[in-house]
Amino acid sequence: MSTLTEKTPEDLKQNSAQGVTPAIRSMHYAEFGPKLKTALPGPNAKKIVADDDRLISPSYTRSYPMVAKSGRGIRVTDVDGNEFLDFAAGIAVNSTGHCHPEVVKAIQDQAAELIHMSGTDFYYQNMTTLAERLSAIAPMPGPHKFYYGNSGAEAVECAMKLARYHTGRQNIISFFGAFHGRTMGALSLTGSKPQQKRRFAPSSPASTTSAIPMLTAAVPTARQKSRKPSPSTAPATSKTASSRPSSRPKRLPPSSSSPSRAKAATS
Ligand SMILES: Cc1ncc(COP(=O)(O)O)c(C=O)c1O
Repeated sequence: MSTLTEKTPEDLKQNSAQGVTPAIRSMHYAEFGPKLKTALPGPNAKKIVADDDRLISPSYTRSYPMVAKSGRGIRVTDVDGNEFLDFAAGIAVNSTGHCHPEVVKAIQDQAAELIHMSGTDFYYQNMTTLAERLSAIAPMPGPHKFYYGNSGAEAVECAMKLARYHTGRQNIISFFGAFHGRTMGALSLTGSKPQQKRRFAPSSPASTTSAIPMLTAAVPTARQKSRKPSPSTAPATSKTASSRPSSRPKRLPPSSSSPSRAKAATS
C-alpha cells in the first residue's frame, strides 16, 4: 500500500509531532491536491467527448466531461495531464486505490494463465478459493453459497430470481430513491430518477416501487414483525435475498444439491 500513498501514517505522525503549521499544510495541499494544467475540459478531452457524442450510445449518462487516462492511488490523470483526487474510490469499488500494484499483478498473472472462464459450464479452483475467503468474513451465519456476477445489476437480477425461486412468491417491492441498475429486471426496481425508466415500460411483472423509506423496511417494527408476510411477496429488497427462507412453499421441489438444479436456479 505504501507505494500508492504519498504520505505514510508514520510520516503523518511525525508531521504532527513536529507541529505542522497552516503554512506547511497549505504547501502540502499544493503538492498533493489536484493539479490543473488546462481549462476543463482540456483540448484532448473536448475532442474525445465530441467523438463520444458521435459514436457512443446516448444511454451512457455522464455528469461532467472528465476523460480519465490513468490512475494511481487516489489520483486520476486525464488525457490533458490534469490530475484529480478520487474520493469516491471509482464508483465505491476501488478501495485499494487506482492500480494497486498487487491488484495489477493478480490481473496480469491471471490473464497470462487463463483469460476465459465460464462458471456456468466448468469448474475453477479460483471460484472455490475466493468463496472460502468470502465465507470467512461474511457477516451472516453460514454455511454460505456464492454466486459471482459481472455487475451490480446482475447481482440484483440474481437476488430477484433467488427470492422468487426460494420463496415461491412473485411480487418484489423496492423503494423510491433507490438505484438498482439498468437491466430490465433491475430497472423494474430502480426508483431514483424518472428518466432511468422513461419509455422502457412495462417493467418486469410483479415488481412495485413503494414510497416506504428503505430504513423503515429494513428495520421492521414490532407490529410489522408480528404480521404474516403476504403469500405472494418475495422477501427481497432486491439485493438482500435471505440465504435462509423462513418457510419453503409446498409446491417447490425438495431441496437437492444436484448441479443441474443449482444451475437452473441461477442461470
Ligand atoms: C446500489 C447500486 N445497485 C446497483 C448498481 C448497478 O451496478 P452496475 O452499474 O454495475 O450494473 C449500482 C451502480 O451504481 C448501484 O450503485
